[in-house]
Amino acid sequence: MMTYRLIYYSANRLSGDAEMLVSQIDAILASSRRNNRVGNITGALMFSQGYFGQVLEGPQSAIEATFERIQRDRRHGDVELLDFSPTSSRHFDRWSMAFVGERTPAVADFARFASKTGFDDSALSGHRILEKLLERVAVPDAF
Ligand SMILES: Cc1cc2nc3c(=O)[nH]c(=O)nc-3n(C[C@H](O)[C@H](O)[C@H](O)COP(=O)(O)O)c2cc1C
Repeated sequence: MMTYRLIYYSANRLSGDAEMLVSQIDAILASSRRNNRVGNITGALMFSQGYFGQVLEGPQSAIEATFERIQRDRRHGDVELLDFSPTSSRHFDRWSMAFVGERTPAVADFARFASKTGFDDSALSGHRILEKLLERVAVPDAF
């Protein structure tokens, strides 16, 4: 079956104090990993400077159904689709959802607000998000 890759970014809408932020991200990761395993989806999620960036890889129908749910999720907004295309291989084949980002409360708190300087959306492309995730998720034999 053909594998597809979808890449998007979105603006954080999570609120609460720093520890709540981290636990809400953990909750997103827990349900993502559970659902993605069932749907044969792999990928990586980053949280930085008030933005999420995510790569989803898997069968087209499973990706479409998952992205429908993700787009309706009020924990983020302004979802911007950057790429959705067939691919010959998975980059994150060992991860139902790898995570890259600030996870200690103090840093997560600082990083929760969108900042035009750090994660400049005008300069963001699917390719850059993929690159950033690949740099920081160890994928020794995925290249
Ligand atoms: C930034 C972000 C990334 C998400 N990534 C996924 C994902 O990869 N897979 C998934 O099933 N749900 C993901 N979700 C959660 C979905 O929006 C939705 O809440 C969830 O799939 C509902 O399933 P559940 O009822 O089993 O928790 C994500 C949500 C956010 C805010």
